[in-house]
Amino acid sequence: MPRDKEIKKEIKKVTTHVLLEMKRKGEKIAMLTAYDYSMGKIIDDAGIDVILVGDSASNVMAGHETTLPITLDQMIYHASSVIRAINRALVVVDLPFGSYQGNSKEALNSAIKIMKDAGAHAVKLEGGKEVKESVERILSAGIPVMGHLGLTPQSIYKFGTYTVRAREEEEATRLMEDAIVLEKAGCFAIVLEKIPAELATRVAKALTIPVIGIGAGAGVDGQVLVLHDMLGITTEFSPRFLRRYLNLYEEIKGAVSHYIKDIKDKDFPNKEEQY
Ligand code: KIV
Repeated sequence: MPRDKEIKKEIKKVTTHVLLEMKRKGEKIAMLTAYDYSMGKIIDDAGIDVILVGDSASNVMAGHETTLPITLDQMIYHASSVIRAINRALVVVDLPFGSYQGNSKEALNSAIKIMKDAGAHAVKLEGGKEVKESVERILSAGIPVMGHLGLTPQSIYKFGTYTVRAREEEEATRLMEDAIVLEKAGCFAIVLEKIPAELATRVAKALTIPVIGIGAGAGVDGQVLVLHDMLGITTEFSPRFLRRYLNLYEEIKGAVSHYIKDIKDKDFPNKEEQY
């Protein structure tokens, strides 16, 4: 048997059951987004538990202002590129805006397309009670579903702003109810985006499924960030919850400037760098 096959056999893949077990044991879940093969490979090799092929690809890969324009086929292109790189992580793919809101049959068809064409392991969709029937129908086909509550970027034109959600009692109560509905409908996990830490902690305690936060404080079962934000490739987005681990924008810009200078100075390629 080739060596890399032997190594692959030893890797314990992350499944939805592994995530439930992690919550039960109090082990935090680490999740990041990825949209392409090369980044997917790096973060899988680093040991990330869950990779989200997020519709944030619409922002960071395509330069759109919102997540609304990205299509199902574009999500499948990103997801299949990531899937080819993965040995261990669970890969969850966002159902893009317009691919599931019509009715539960449309939601099921979109989820099936993502699973078949991209080889995804699970799908994620935004919303609470209003997507319950879709969650149940997708699950009836054996497709695991992750929910997403709080700031749901696909509804940005309804909210009007990207500010913290559920600060008021009424919205907080609704969010808690929605989280319970999603758990009862069969979601294996939910993302809570940009809500008060105290509320997120209460939701995580009330649910048996893992709650993954982004801007939801430390009292949840795991954290997710957009890869390009935490690596400092994007510079214009600086919410309080974002911890930047690198300043890749400056690093890459510096390397490219150096390369340009080497060419202009006739320093590259040198004698050793040619045939
Ligand atoms: O699309 C995305 O990147 C997301 C995360 C912000 C959770 O949904």
